Amino acid sequence: MAIYRDRVFPRIMNLLMDNKQNRRIRARVCGDLEGDVVEIGFGTGLNLPHLPAGVTLLRAVEPSELGVHIARDRINSSPVPVQIVGLDGQHLPFEDHSADAVLSTWTLCTIPDAVAALREVRRVLRPGGMLHFVEHGTAPDAGVRRWQDRLNGVQRRLGCGCNLNRDIPALIQAGGLTISHLDTYYSPGEPRPFGATYEGAARA
Ligand SMILES: C[S@@+](CC[C@H](N)C(=O)[O-])C[C@H]1O[C@@H](n2cnc3c(N)ncnc32)[C@H](O)[C@@H]1O
Repeated sequence: MAIYRDRVFPRIMNLLMDNKQNRRIRARVCGDLEGDVVEIGFGTGLNLPHLPAGVTLLRAVEPSELGVHIARDRINSSPVPVQIVGLDGQHLPFEDHSADAVLSTWTLCTIPDAVAALREVRRVLRPGGMLHFVEHGTAPDAGVRRWQDRLNGVQRRLGCGCNLNRDIPALIQAGGLTISHLDTYYSPGEPRPFGATYEGAARA
C-alpha cells in the first residue's frame, strides 16, 4: 500500500485532476488571490498556472514527495515564487496571522483531521484574510448521499484517504471560519457521488 501511495497515486492524481472542467474551476478559485498565500495539499502544483500576478509568494504544504517532484517544471516556470515548507495541513509551520490568503483545492476530503487543519488555517490567516476553496463532499440529495456512504470505503483505499461524504461547509465553520460565499453544484461530467462540489471563500 505504501508503494501505491508514494509511487503510483501522485501520478494518477496529476492526470485525473488536470482536466478542462477542473482548470476552469481552478481559475475561478485562484482568481482573487493576492499577497502571501499558503496552499494546503499543493499536490502536483496544478494551481500554479492560475495564480494571478498579485500573488507575491506561495508557501506550499504537501506530504507527497513525488507530488512535489512532479510539480518541479510547473514550479520552475511559475512567475510566483514557490516555497515548499510543510508536510501536514494539521500542523502549519507558520506564524500566527502571517498569510494574506489560504488556498485549498480538493484537499479537505483527505486530511485526516480536517477541522484541525482549518483551525490552523484560521490561525495563520491575517484578520479578515480568506480561505479560497473548492472541495468535493457530501451531496445535497439523500439518494446520492447513500451511494457516497456505500462507496466511501473503496474510495478511501483507492484515493489514499479521500472521503466522499464529508460535510465541507460544516467543517469550515467548525474550524472557526465564516463562509462568505458558497456555490454548491455537481461537477459536470462526473458521477454525482464523486462530483458534489463546494466552491467558495471563508473569512478568518
Ligand atoms: C486529491 S489531491 C488534490 C491535490 C491538489 N490540491 C489539486 O488540486 O490537484 C489531495 C491532496 O491532499 C494531500 N494531503 C493528504 N494529506 C494531507 C495533509 N495531512 N496535509 C496536507 N495535504 C495533505 C495529498 O497528498 C494530495 O496532494
